[in-house]
Amino acid sequence: MEEKSKVLIIGATGFLGFHLAQASCNFSHPTFALIRDSTSSSSTKLDKLRALSDAGVQFLKGSLDDEASLMEAVNQVDVVICAVSSKQALDQKLLIQIIKQNGSIKRFIPSEFGLDPDKVQISNMDYDFYARKAEIRRLVEAEGIPYTIISCNFFMSYLLPSLVQPGMKIPPRDKVTIFGDGNTKGVFVKVSDVADFTISSLDDPRTLNKVVYLRPEGNVYSLNELVEIWECKIGKKLEKNYVSEEELLKKIEETPYPDNMQLIFIYSAFIKGDQTYFDIEASSNGVDGSKLYPQLKHTTISEFLDTLLE
Ligand SMILES: *[C@@H]1O[C@H](CO)[C@@H](O)[C@H](O)[C@H]1NC(C)=O
Ligand SMILES: *[C@@H]1O[C@H](CO)[C@@H](O)[C@H](O)[C@H]1NC(C)=O
Repeated sequence: MEEKSKVLIIGATGFLGFHLAQASCNFSHPTFALIRDSTSSSSTKLDKLRALSDAGVQFLKGSLDDEASLMEAVNQVDVVICAVSSKQALDQKLLIQIIKQNGSIKRFIPSEFGLDPDKVQISNMDYDFYARKAEIRRLVEAEGIPYTIISCNFFMSYLLPSLVQPGMKIPPRDKVTIFGDGNTKGVFVKVSDVADFTISSLDDPRTLNKVVYLRPEGNVYSLNELVEIWECKIGKKLEKNYVSEEELLKKIEETPYPDNMQLIFIYSAFIKGDQTYFDIEASSNGVDGSKLYPQLKHTTISEFLDTLLE
């Protein structure tokens, strides 16, 4: 049997990083996590560290701004996965230099895990959310580091629990707001499924220097379709309120940052169609991750909505 790559996860106590570390262990990779030495750890963080340790993750002390610790960590592994937030995206620059210096890292998966920053059509209004990620892409390409980008679109825990109703926490039972004409399709994938797809891709030659797009079956719907699925589940028609593109843009302008980011992401996905307007096969370095691993089971939107029925 082929030996499994050793994997370093950066950001393993974060929302996505935690699942990545678990999935890495689940798929039998020797798994390391770079952990900050902090005395005032919250109990949630301690719980996560305990769960990771139980799963077999080995902890290495260090952080993205500590060169010596980063070098030591990188020199122990074959693959590096970074799962820091978009705000911290540029903090990956030192890591990229160290990976470059080492020269034998087989794959780097930078912190993207969202929409494709080279494809989104809202870059004039997103406060550089995607520009930072694009800058990191350009750096990785320029340094000639072997990479895989995971373009997983929205996590299910974002917007879907309210059926894309800004400011709400549960799905509507009477009235629903639909943005635009409601026919543009968006994509939601459960975070643990994103982790499984990511770990499956890291030793795969088909994903080398590619952008892996996730659009799994049962996870790509328009707002009209989402509402219809929900109406079916609750056995009731909802009263629909349509908000036009112009009205949404006005709302975005009137709402202060960062509260308006949710509206901006809704505009991007469900009016501009940034998750689905392009053909994956036609893009020069794109590959459809949902088709590469048919053996992976994933949670569909319908299954997720079932969990919200009480
Ligand atoms: C890893 O396996 C455990 C136990 O089967 C499961 O609960 C968890 O969801 C898996 N995590 C991922 C990210 O695949
Ligand atoms: C790079 O990392 C490998 C482990 O993957 C290690 O064996 C090697 O010594 C490192 N190379 C350099 C130049 O640090």
